[in-house]
Amino acid sequence: MTEVGAEIHGKLRIAAPSDVVAVRKNVRELAAAMGFNIVDSTRLVTAAAELARNVIHYAGAGELTWKAQEDGKRKGLRLEFVDQGPGIADPAQAMTPGYSTSGGLGMGLPGAKRLADEMEIRSEVGRGTTVVITQWLPL
Ligand SMILES: Nc1ncnc2c1ncn2[C@@H]1O[C@H](COP(=O)(O)OP(=O)(O)OP(=O)(O)O)[C@@H](O)[C@H]1O
Ligand SMILES: [Mg+2]
Repeated sequence: MTEVGAEIHGKLRIAAPSDVVAVRKNVRELAAAMGFNIVDSTRLVTAAAELARNVIHYAGAGELTWKAQEDGKRKGLRLEFVDQGPGIADPAQAMTPGYSTSGGLGMGLPGAKRLADEMEIRSEVGRGTTVVITQWLPL
């Protein structure tokens, strides 16, 4: 739990399907503490759950790190999902709606990109994947 007014920064290990529930709860609480409305909070929670599911499914385990952001006028919440899994050979292809290497819907990454204000993927085959999403509070 993060106190209002305290610096918002922390991390959570993601290793089991039940951790997706913990990620959802955590992001929901963080977003509420920062003053996000229910729509933006739900968008961020949904995106975070997809990225957490990917960490478990493709890498087995990883970590979520969160940090409050400021860009001068706006405040935002930045979520970083890091794993040391197999990596993604072609991140642009992985972002294509319907692309899946596991018989899934291939909607997790494109869905997260649509829901968050910003999304960035860094990946190296054999080393792992980092996905960062940021949501900004409306001015
Ligand atoms: N953390 C990751 N590590 C390795 N590969 C990943 C990771 N996340 C995504 N991928 C790759 O990107 C592809 C697309 O991911 P995306 O979440 O969009 O779809 P999906 O997981 O296949 O299906 P779903 O719609 O159920 O999420 C995956 O099939 C997988 O090949
Ligand atoms: Mg997925």
